[in-house]
Amino acid sequence: MKYKIRNFEEGYVDPSEPNNIFLLNNKENLSLDIGCGEGEFIIELGKRNPNKFYLGIDIKYGRILKGLKKLNKDNVRNVKFMNFNVSFLTNKIFFSKNINEIYINNPDPWPKDRHSKNRILTKEFLDTLFSIIKKKGEININTDSKEYLDFIKNQISNSKFKEYKENVNQNLPITKFQNYYSSINKEIHSIKIIKS
Ligand SMILES: C[S@@+](CC[C@H](N)C(=O)[O-])C[C@H]1O[C@@H](n2cnc3c(N)ncnc32)[C@H](O)[C@@H]1O
Repeated sequence: MKYKIRNFEEGYVDPSEPNNIFLLNNKENLSLDIGCGEGEFIIELGKRNPNKFYLGIDIKYGRILKGLKKLNKDNVRNVKFMNFNVSFLTNKIFFSKNINEIYINNPDPWPKDRHSKNRILTKEFLDTLFSIIKKKGEININTDSKEYLDFIKNQISNSKFKEYKENVNQNLPITKFQNYYSSINKEIHSIKIIKS
């Protein structure tokens, strides 16, 4: 574990520690925030639902560290963070199908053609999510990019989920990026997928 994260051990799940992974798989009501950034969304959800358990995952060390500091300051116990590249997510990490909800807020849209291979929401990734989520579990995705939205819809249709609903109104916390988009009057599109 990197030195600074070690200062916030209580809120951190080390993906290389089998014990940590085992404890995650033992939770009854687990929800994930994939690409959680600095964690304000998942911390607010944790405060609203103290009986549920939340894990925020982000590839950027500095963002996870900020989330851990906030968690510590607000004394929230049912939220944890993991510094991890979700391209390596498998059902060997989440093996007990205990995941109720997955949130993916404003994933990087990679608008340039030559970068589009970096998009995380591919059919393959969605099939991995299918293999770790409970029956009737939900995935909530939102994006400001119409182009990425169309790409995601296509990937869902080709994945094991097949179906989705658009713009379902939910009273979810506002993320840092959504705050920014609304300040410049950019529309946010949302998609809900339910595992049947
Ligand atoms: C545009 S930001 C959105 C942050 C936050 N969800 C929000 O709405 O404010 C996208 C986030 O996804 C994270 N990310 C991108 N690729 C990732 C990957 N392969 N694994 C984990 N996190 C990733 C980035 O580090 C970044 O924090």
